[in-house]
Amino acid sequence: MKTFLLFLILFAFNKIQAQDTDKSLLKRAKSIVKNLSVKEKIAQTCQLTLDALLKTNDQGQVITPIVLDEKKLVQLIEQDKIGSLLNVSANTLDLKTWRTILEQIHGIYLSKRVKIPIIYGVDAIHGANYIVGGTLFPQEIGLSATWNLELARKMGMITAYETRASGVPWNFSPVLDLGRKALWSRYFETLGEDQHLASEMGAALVKGYQGSALNSPYSVLSCMKHFVGYSYPNSGRDRTPAWIPERQMKELFLPSFKAAVDAGALSVMINSGSVNGIPGHMNKNLLTNILKGEFGFKGFAVSDWEDIRMLHTVHKIAENQKEAIVLAINAGLDMSMVPYYGNYREYLDLFHEAFMEGKISKTRLDDAVTRIIYAKLKLGLFETPMYPLDQYPDFGSKEFQATAKQAALESITLLKNDKQTLPLKKSEKILLLGAVADNLIFQNGSWTHTWQGVDSSFNTQNALNIKQAFQNKIAPSLLKYEKGYELTLLNNWENCALVDLSKVIEEAKLCDKIVVCLGEMPATEKPGDIRSLNLCEAQLKLVEELQTLGKPIILVCLFGRPRIIRTIEPLASAIVNAYLPGDYGSSALVDLLYGEENFSGKLSYTFPKYDGVMEHYDYVNAETLSGKTNKNDAIDPQWPFGFGMSYTSYSYSNLSLSKTSMVRENDSIIAKITVSNNGKIAGKEVVQWFITDEYASISPANKKLKYFEKIDLLPNQTKTIEFVIHPSDLKFVGENNEWILEKGNFIISVENFKSTFNLD
Ligand code: BGC
Repeated sequence: MKTFLLFLILFAFNKIQAQDTDKSLLKRAKSIVKNLSVKEKIAQTCQLTLDALLKTNDQGQVITPIVLDEKKLVQLIEQDKIGSLLNVSANTLDLKTWRTILEQIHGIYLSKRVKIPIIYGVDAIHGANYIVGGTLFPQEIGLSATWNLELARKMGMITAYETRASGVPWNFSPVLDLGRKALWSRYFETLGEDQHLASEMGAALVKGYQGSALNSPYSVLSCMKHFVGYSYPNSGRDRTPAWIPERQMKELFLPSFKAAVDAGALSVMINSGSVNGIPGHMNKNLLTNILKGEFGFKGFAVSDWEDIRMLHTVHKIAENQKEAIVLAINAGLDMSMVPYYGNYREYLDLFHEAFMEGKISKTRLDDAVTRIIYAKLKLGLFETPMYPLDQYPDFGSKEFQATAKQAALESITLLKNDKQTLPLKKSEKILLLGAVADNLIFQNGSWTHTWQGVDSSFNTQNALNIKQAFQNKIAPSLLKYEKGYELTLLNNWENCALVDLSKVIEEAKLCDKIVVCLGEMPATEKPGDIRSLNLCEAQLKLVEELQTLGKPIILVCLFGRPRIIRTIEPLASAIVNAYLPGDYGSSALVDLLYGEENFSGKLSYTFPKYDGVMEHYDYVNAETLSGKTNKNDAIDPQWPFGFGMSYTSYSYSNLSLSKTSMVRENDSIIAKITVSNNGKIAGKEVVQWFITDEYASISPANKKLKYFEKIDLLPNQTKTIEFVIHPSDLKFVGENNEWILEKGNFIISVENFKSTFNLD
């Protein structure tokens, strides 16, 4: 007891100290801002892309290998005093080049030629994906399928370590947009369809990135993306309008951002699209009232790429660029990703004009700059903009790679396994098929060494693709690889064609089992727009032709989002969803296929069966009614949210509730369930707790995920898992668009067990 009290006192003391430091940093930020001229303040809000500082040829193209242009460096940083830089140039850079660039940039501050250090940001969204030799993790959609918060935190920590090693202290990650439109080209960047899972995993990533102190050599500032509603475009195409009622906005799309703010995130990037006709970059209600006001966000908001300009050029709201700046800054935007060299002068001048004309107040400008400077102070950039390289001995280490592999192992999801087709036996002869099995780009996806990720010339040396991982696992005589189909871009659209079908059929006759790897071209943002979720014909055709031979077919899906495989699902004996598992994903996959590791990934989205029907696990009852069968069986996904099999079998028993009634204030019910591993091998099970409101003033969801825990279970081991239900777990957004609690009956469910309780 005494120790506990001491702990409490120490904890409270630490908290007070941290608050004090934050208070004094804020004070320091304000006094720095006080001593800046208006022009210097405006320059702090200006962010340019690295290309703006690079030497170019006579046609204005960046010369490669890239070199900083001394003249531009002096002009932009020393004279115009811009506050921020971002991005990599065309492709990934090695650690040495990164550090040389950053040393030159920070050198200007260190030699006291400017008063304020630059904050440099990069998209290290699945590991340090823009540094040669950086450790590449699964993309977020795969990470969310691990349902493992500790792994998410570790991925954040390792990414922070390696990013800061390059001299970059700011990461444009995580994406907290919900994955509810599979057509959207950035679906793979999300943490799936559920707000609770995305909130928990997102907060874990933020904690990993930011660590316990932002000024540590191993932390980076996390940037929440993209506030808010970006992932739900009506058309499915990137950066097109979303229409989201306030209820849905509050209940589904905002919570993951609130959770990240509570986890300490101190920067946010804004949605490039519009919600309900209002572009994200001028949405004062969302940005100022909700994010900065209600959520208490103390960090700064950066625009997305060129997005202030786009209020004029694309959204057709601002009549000119000056009005665009006024609208965005007054809505609560603090920094503009301008980001081109050609536009920065205009941005600085028009901002200044608008300020002098009183269109932007001193209070607003000071607030924006104080927020930016506060983050720079928190990062310790004023003291140490960059730490020595010898502080990073673990960059790209085997240990980091092992964590990335563990993330892949725990994300890859077994969706079907008839007649124990898997695990494969090392004595079986395997025909491995698929263009995606023979190149790392298909297991990494976009934001890997290049923006779109299609150029394989930058692939990580020594990382294995699927074919190589098989070659490492079994004797050459037992493995035959054929492409089967080719996957390319034709006029920028994904294009697929069968390759040597007759040869493939002949090879198939000679093997015991056929592993067909299916996949997509890496793509993101507007270039990644697609028109249908149907998998390209040639891949389907290949499987159809093969099944006539009667050999067991195993499908491995390298999908950044669900693609429709309804017609070939019955033709396969086993199906594995590998998502975009990163550089170490192939060895994880092959270990799983051969049963050296056990599957534990669970879908973080509802896998659709049909192209035209989008379903989510939290559907309402009306969606279940079928006019064909007159039953409640209309919801018909290929696989449900949370689904994933393993090589062992778990049984659930003894669901119990500490009581069956709860009052609104200070009350709780303890729910318990017993989970046992009845199989012969160890495994990890994700215990998923859902709550259903039986009747409510707003049509209630079928069920809502409220709590989950990933547990380890040895053979014959049993564990009892607890979920403490609080009244807040029963809240929903009511008719007046406010979070409310309504009395009534509720159902708690875990696996196939259900129990009821009520709220008085
Ligand atoms: C993307 C952002 C990204 C930014 C900087 C934009 O086009 O939408 O997600 O962080 O570029 O690279």
